[in-house]
Amino acid sequence: MNILDIIANKRDKKELSKEEIDFFVKGYTNGEITDYQAAALIMAIYINGMNDEELFNLTFSMANSGEVLDLSEFGTNVVDKHSTGGVGDKVSIVLLPIIASFGIPVAKMSGRGLGFTGGTIDKLEAIPGYNTAVDIENFKNYVHKIGISIIGQTMNLAPADKKIYALRDTISCVDNIPLIASSIMSKKIAAGANKIVLEVTYGKGAFMKTLEDAKLLAQKMESLGKYAGREVKSVFTPMNEPIGFAVGNSLEIIEAINFLKGKNMPEDLKRIVLEIGSHMIKLAGRGDNIEENKQKMLENINNGLAFNKLKEMVQIQGGDITYLDNIEKFEKAKYIIEVKSDKNGQISEMNAEDIGKLACFLGAGRIKKEDKIDMSVGIVLNKKVNDFVEQDETLATIYANDEEKCKTAVEEIKNIIKI
Ligand code: URA
Repeated sequence: MNILDIIANKRDKKELSKEEIDFFVKGYTNGEITDYQAAALIMAIYINGMNDEELFNLTFSMANSGEVLDLSEFGTNVVDKHSTGGVGDKVSIVLLPIIASFGIPVAKMSGRGLGFTGGTIDKLEAIPGYNTAVDIENFKNYVHKIGISIIGQTMNLAPADKKIYALRDTISCVDNIPLIASSIMSKKIAAGANKIVLEVTYGKGAFMKTLEDAKLLAQKMESLGKYAGREVKSVFTPMNEPIGFAVGNSLEIIEAINFLKGKNMPEDLKRIVLEIGSHMIKLAGRGDNIEENKQKMLENINNGLAFNKLKEMVQIQGGDITYLDNIEKFEKAKYIIEVKSDKNGQISEMNAEDIGKLACFLGAGRIKKEDKIDMSVGIVLNKKVNDFVEQDETLATIYANDEEKCKTAVEEIKNIIKI
C-alpha cells in the first residue's frame, strides 16, 4: 500500500478501505507521510466527501492514534460536553460546576484558544495559581475527592487530529462536515466520557452557517457516538454575536463568577448553560424532564452549591479563591475606555468573529501557538443585538495595556457594532 494510490482513489471518488485510512492516519501521525501528501488527501475528502463507513473508520483511527483515557472507575454516567466554537464562550466554566453540584462526575480536559476563539484553559489560568497542567493520577484523585476537575490536554489524546486539524486550518479545509465530525468525535471518544452533549453552533461566527448544516453535522456525530457505545445528544445554538458581554480571559472569568453567584446572568449565556446542562443531567440519569432539570440548575445557583463547587475546584487545583470572593482583586488593564454611541438607534449586528479578532489584537488570544496571552485585556459589551441605544450611551468598554492598540480598538468597535 502507498499514499499515492490512496490519494488517487479519493481523487477519483472511490471508497477508501479501513486499511487505507489506517495507513494514512498512522503514517501522517508518525511523520512518514508528508504535509503536502496529507493536504492532497484532505482536499480530496473535502471535495468528494466520505460515506458512513469511511467516516467511522477515520474517526476510530484518529481516536486510537494516541492515548485513550479510561474513566470507567467513575461509573457509567460520566458526562462531557463539547462546543463547535464561539466567541466569549465561558459556558464550560459556568456549566460544569453546576453539573458537579448534583454529584455527577465531571472529568474534563479542555483546550487553549487559537485564532479568534478563546479557550477554557486560558480563561481558568486568569485565576492566579490555578494549575491546568495536572497529571492523570491527580486529575482522577480530584474527581474522586470533589467530583470535578478541569485540566489542559496533559495526555496525548488523538494526536492525529491535532496534526490534521492544524493542516486543515492552513489549506481552507475546516468547514466540512465529515472532517469536523471525525475531528470532534475522535477527541471525545479518546477523552473517555460515556455521555456527551454536543453544542453545535451555527451562524456568522460558526463553522456551520445554517441550522440545516448544523443538524447534518449533529446527526453524523451522534451516529459516530452510538457506534462507539457513547450516548450523544446535540443542542443547537445560533452564533452571530459573542456569548454574554465579556470577551477576554479575566473579563470572562469575572462574568462566569458573577453568573454562578446569581448576580448577573446574561440571557443568552443562561439559555445555553441551561439547555446543555439539562440534557447532561438527563443523560446522567438524574431527571428525564428537561424543564425541571433547568429549574434544579437554577436552584443550585441560588442556594450557592454551584459557586461552592467552583471554589472547591479552584482550591484543589492551587488557585487563589479570594479572587472568587472579591473580583476586584483581578488585575485591571492600564487603559479602560468606554466607547459611546454617536447616534440613537437599534443594534443590528455585532459580528462575533470580528469581536474575537479585536480581542486577539489587544492581546487576549494567540496568533501563533507560542504567543503569550495578556489576561486583563479585552472587550466588555454593554448591549446585545436588537437592543436600543441612545446617543452618548456606552456601547462597549475597551480594556487595553497598549495605548496605540487601545485607540485602534476604540475606532474598530464602532465599525463592528452596527446601529
Ligand atoms: N472543532 C474541532 O475540534 N474540530 C473541528 O474540525 C472543528 C471544530
